Amino acid sequence: MTTTEETVRVKTPEAAAEIRAPQKSREELEKKEVFLSGRKITRVFSGNGQRKAAVDNVDFDFRRGEIVSIVGESGSGKTTLAKMILGLLGITSGELVYNGKPRDISTHAKRREYWRDIQAIFQDPFSTFNIFNKVDSVLLDCIRLMGWKRLPMEEKVEKMREACSFVNIKYDEIGNKYPFELSGGQMQRLMIARIFLLKPKLLVADEPTSMIDACSRATILDMLLKLRDETDMTILFITHDIGLSYYISDTVYIMEHGKVVERGDPDSAILHPTSDYTKRLIGDVPKISERWTFDD
Ligand SMILES: Nc1ncnc2c1ncn2[C@@H]1O[C@H](COP(=O)(O)OP(=O)(O)O)[C@@H](O)[C@H]1O
Ligand SMILES: [Mg+2]
Repeated sequence: MTTTEETVRVKTPEAAAEIRAPQKSREELEKKEVFLSGRKITRVFSGNGQRKAAVDNVDFDFRRGEIVSIVGESGSGKTTLAKMILGLLGITSGELVYNGKPRDISTHAKRREYWRDIQAIFQDPFSTFNIFNKVDSVLLDCIRLMGWKRLPMEEKVEKMREACSFVNIKYDEIGNKYPFELSGGQMQRLMIARIFLLKPKLLVADEPTSMIDACSRATILDMLLKLRDETDMTILFITHDIGLSYYISDTVYIMEHGKVVERGDPDSAILHPTSDYTKRLIGDVPKISERWTFDD
């Protein structure tokens, strides 16, 4: 298995492309339907008598089964955009189109319906779990959400075992533990086991690997890829790490000060960027773009 660490260490574009995770071919991707689009999505925050657009006229189109990365430095508006997509933050102006219709989350019932298709994982998995709930009850919650409440207990356990084995953790070893008894890497795997059970149509992963070690990070990325391949879910992967985005995505959006300054497949957006900002980001990660030089 190739790992992310290898990817970011490789110095030529040709070599990077060779060990990159297999992406969907453009042709295959373009046959899939667009199921979430944004047009001129803008979010303005006001404070201290000032108005600032944290997200500024952003357009996007996400297809089924597509892994999209949103890349940018801290403060570029990535999380604000993600929260608007998740329906956790109001949109100042612009339009979101979901399944061909303007997204409507104006009532509690409509929000619930929208949220049925969408899940998120965040940087800090500890903030997601109730510390008083053991692992098995976290997974049982998913079983309940999926409407499998009436299944006999053995079948529920079988589903939980399957989800744990998808992420290489042993249900019988951790089912009875509390979240604080797990390592950061195990917690992130548990987050993905939840996603495996819930099978959302859209997964928003906001810096999901920035608090874990490099080895677990590579594993988590490979699990996200496997999830996409098995379920055709769309994954919005948010990161400040352009190397990770190159490894995992079909399409890359680069954000600077709330605006999308570069958009395309990783080879064009990252290896042949047009904006100065992208060039600078790549300059900060010389591992992708530099050529090998041999000094004797
Ligand atoms: N609730 C808020 N109120 C005011 N300003 C905010 C709020 N949330 C984010 N911002 C500002 O919006 C900009 C983008 O933030 P954010 O979306 O969190 O960026 P990123 O996730 O790329 O680091 C930042 O300048 C941030 O300070
Ligand atoms: Mg953020």
